[in-house]
Amino acid sequence: MLKGNTAIVTGGSRGIGAAIAKKLASLGANVALLDIGNEDQAKLVCEYCTEEFGVKAAYYSCNVADFEQTKQVVTQVSKDFENVTILINNAGITRDGLVMMMNEKQFDDVISVNLKGAFNMIKHCSRQFMKNKCGRIVNISSVSGLSGNAGQANYSASKAGLVGLTKTVAREFASKNITCNAIAPGFIATDMTADISAENNPLAAQIPLGRPGTPEDIAGAAAFLVTSPYVTGVVLRVDGGLGM
Ligand code: NAI
Repeated sequence: MLKGNTAIVTGGSRGIGAAIAKKLASLGANVALLDIGNEDQAKLVCEYCTEEFGVKAAYYSCNVADFEQTKQVVTQVSKDFENVTILINNAGITRDGLVMMMNEKQFDDVISVNLKGAFNMIKHCSRQFMKNKCGRIVNISSVSGLSGNAGQANYSASKAGLVGLTKTVAREFASKNITCNAIAPGFIATDMTADISAENNPLAAQIPLGRPGTPEDIAGAAAFLVTSPYVTGVVLRVDGGLGM
């Protein structure tokens, strides 16, 4: 279905990003994983994609918050791979704290990675998408960005910012066959949420579907958006019904 296309997945070495990379590879896409760390894990994901699905896969060390670095890495990926048409902005961090306790660095770091990182990647990839006459961008937002979450002013603001970015990019590029959508995951069991177990998280008890999500639940939604050329500017909640 995606054979001959290349997907860039930021934060692709573990968790939701790794699951999305594997899913897109299973549909035939080549995958370039960009991550600031976890090189060993990233290489395992690449090996898996190549061995299971016969696609090309590679890891690139990259801090998405760094404008020049993202520019260089996107240029390199475009040389190493054919037909870059898919971008998954998944890299994200948390630096939680109540507003009264949160310092400037906590706020700036989260905005830089989660929001500016997505801008950097979209800006640099857009040239490739125009050249290839196709682009499918998926930004991983969060239900925290839609409803707010006490202790996450920085994170919620960054994820709400992604919604505005998504809709603006969707409008700016619509005439160029470039779509841009967001996914707002609920509570997903990954390393990021490892210290808030389903048992002691009050939110988890409120999930109508009765369980935390898995990275594969998000990967399925990403695959849907990437393969749906008439869907743009949407924010798809994948939260087990939490936001109803
Ligand atoms: P994770 O912590 O397991 O994975 C995040 C990945 O991003 C890591 O591999 C990390 O090295 C990478 N990363 C962090 N900073 C980076 C940077 N500056 N440049 C490049 N890569 C960087 O997290 P998880 O749970 O897989 O989350 C993935 C995305 O989903 C994040 O954007 C997160 O905010 C979002 N999300 C997660 C939810 C959850 O419950 N796990 C819920 C809602 C949204």
